[in-house]
Amino acid sequence: MLELRQVVAGYGDTTVLRGVDLLVPQGSVVALLGPNGAGKTTLLRVASGLLPQRSGALLLDGEDITGLPPHKLAERGICHVPEGRGVFGSLTVRDNLLLQAPPGKEDESLERAAAVFPKLGERLDQLAGTMSGGEQQMLALTRSYVQSPKVVLLDEVSMGLAPKIVDEIFDFLATLAAEGASLLLVEQYVTRALAVADYVYVLGKGEVSFVGEPSELDGDDVFRAYTGISDDTSQDKELTS
Ligand SMILES: Nc1ncnc2c1ncn2[C@@H]1O[C@H](COP(=O)(O)OP(=O)(O)OP(=O)(O)O)[C@@H](O)[C@H]1O
Ligand SMILES: [Mg+2]
Repeated sequence: MLELRQVVAGYGDTTVLRGVDLLVPQGSVVALLGPNGAGKTTLLRVASGLLPQRSGALLLDGEDITGLPPHKLAERGICHVPEGRGVFGSLTVRDNLLLQAPPGKEDESLERAAAVFPKLGERLDQLAGTMSGGEQQMLALTRSYVQSPKVVLLDEVSMGLAPKIVDEIFDFLATLAAEGASLLLVEQYVTRALAVADYVYVLGKGEVSFVGEPSELDGDDVFRAYTGISDDTSQDKELTS
């Protein structure tokens, strides 16, 4: 279980998170919603150690991990899939995966990757930068998967991808969760995110403005009031049909 307690964080003179409490219980999927600029990415950066918080605490399974650097948090099983992919374009698919593979489990990791996204298995020698956007996103996600992470922080991983690939990605997220990982999911396809989520948090003005179960967020008006964004259901319906 990942826990943020009264986290305050920002950039320079700007305070973005103003005392955020958030829980990602073991094996659950938590959707994190909020309008553009609300601080969702910032929160994931704090949770992965990329952005030091000014005050507050970060706990993993009850243990205080506040202030640990990103690689230490990664060793403990916190995996961050950042906005805009995060693969090494000048390395092959194989080398991208091997960089994340636990020592001694290189072959097994490549097999696991090919099992979830067969296309990656067929493209091990291709330079990651020459893969399509969707394929690169699959690679970015798989790099997290081969580490058997405890907590996966996902920042808009379906951004800009074709509906079919978004489907594959959501299937993959379900697999990750079914294998016991906890997911903190920032997602533009709100309806889809709520469909897989056990809990939902809404960020507004640097504070949590709503926490509850997705079913409590029914009704477009309520939804808009909380998030400041209009849920593009027409697009979502198209995608799921
Ligand atoms: N490196 C930075 N330096 C200064 N300000 C930043 C930096 N990164 C983000 N910000 C500011 O912090 C605020 C929160 O940004 P953040 O990226 O966390 O929002 P977000 O909720 O992820 O938005 P979006 O939905 O657009 O991705 C914004 O006002 C943004 O301009
Ligand atoms: Mg963001």
